[in-house]
Amino acid sequence: MKKSTKPWGGRFKESTHSIVEEFTASIHFDKRLYRYDIEGSIAHCEMLAKKRIISAEEKKVILSGLKGILGDMERGDFEYSPDLEDIHMVVEKALIERIGDIGGKLHTGRSRNDQVSLDVRLYLRDETKGILKLLNGLKTTIVKVAKREADVIMPGYTHLQKAQPVCLSHYLLAFWEMIARDEKRLEECYGRINVMPLGSAALAGTSIPIDREYVAKRLKFPEITKNSLDAVSDRDFVAEFIFDAGLLMMHMSRLCEDLILWSSDEFNFVEISDSFTTGSSIMPQKKNPDVAELIRGKTGRIYGNLITILTVMKGLPMAYDRDLQEDKEPLFDTVDTVKISLSVLAEMIKRLKFNREKMMSEAVKGFSTATDIAEYLVMKGVPFREAHKTVGALVLYCIEEGKDLASLEIEEIRRFYKDADDDIYHCMNVRNSVDSRNIPGGTARAMVVKRIKEIETEKL
Ligand code: ARG
Repeated sequence: MKKSTKPWGGRFKESTHSIVEEFTASIHFDKRLYRYDIEGSIAHCEMLAKKRIISAEEKKVILSGLKGILGDMERGDFEYSPDLEDIHMVVEKALIERIGDIGGKLHTGRSRNDQVSLDVRLYLRDETKGILKLLNGLKTTIVKVAKREADVIMPGYTHLQKAQPVCLSHYLLAFWEMIARDEKRLEECYGRINVMPLGSAALAGTSIPIDREYVAKRLKFPEITKNSLDAVSDRDFVAEFIFDAGLLMMHMSRLCEDLILWSSDEFNFVEISDSFTTGSSIMPQKKNPDVAELIRGKTGRIYGNLITILTVMKGLPMAYDRDLQEDKEPLFDTVDTVKISLSVLAEMIKRLKFNREKMMSEAVKGFSTATDIAEYLVMKGVPFREAHKTVGALVLYCIEEGKDLASLEIEEIRRFYKDADDDIYHCMNVRNSVDSRNIPGGTARAMVVKRIKEIETEKL
């Protein structure tokens, strides 16, 4: 019978079955954490020396071993052996191979359970910072385009039926507001990622007199976890990050859905650049909005990742369980998907060509100023419900006569509202309609321009 050669092999008589090795290994995906694993080990090693748990000489040897491994990994010069399960074991084994038994001192006062939580937190801190930068880039792009399109009027919709005219910039800034909230949420999430768990060891802490605060300071964590059981077993920060990413994807997906509709021949409101569309393998005339569709589709994947982590967590007995290894793939996939989606969307938006004439010509159709006329009547003293009925009848008359509101003679209007003056035509003009919505949050050009200014000065 072959004896186990694992670092934990002491109490085992038999070696691990190869199928179990294959099944339990995470190295093929958690090697992504190598830099953070070594960074954490360096801080831990320095703390052990500071507390005289290892000697200054041992520290020197361990650090040079770790740095050597890091260098090899950075250069792609490292062979990851799959029988060592995970990145923590791979690094430790390589260290012992390089510097001998002293390497075995590194794992003093810690466990893979707190180590993996540390690694994921270090990784996610970096990635969240990167995603926040990309988010900011998308926001800047949206404001730039909104500024450029400030004079464009488009039909606003409810139920995908023409409702009231709005500024295209107002539409674009709606997404700016959503994404600005996504940014805030991620910043808050960052605060909960940014807590140092090392020293929780397997589940109960350690009897070795380590200095957790020192490790936290070395790794630039503002605080340490306060309960070892919590620290090794909870992944709420992973779930929260994926949720925040899911919400951000949902917002991007909504914008994409509009772009998909708008770029159709039926709408013809926007042209997506050739460089951000694809063709059909059979229909030569086709130009398809695949980028927007993929962002919409990938949003579903992120929701799936959120359900994965929540489900993995929901029935776990306290404290660490191996199920927690299943947190990494959905997390990594979420990070990758959100990053590429943010980048590709910003680049696509920069290149959009809005069909301003078509938007305007559609904005005047569909009795889109009917509410303006009702509001005109209200300002003349007519109760709103009665005004609504009157204008409804006027619209019906137009439909039956094949006319639009602005082409009605004043006598025709007076059949419905006897006190109508020529000034009633003012509110039937779509630009006047838009500009009359001059309250904070409204679509008037002046309000939209004011909001753009606010955003630009906020950023300074
Ligand atoms: N690969 C493991 C994970 O990702 C690391 C911790 C393993 N700990 C253990 N006791 N088996 O969660």
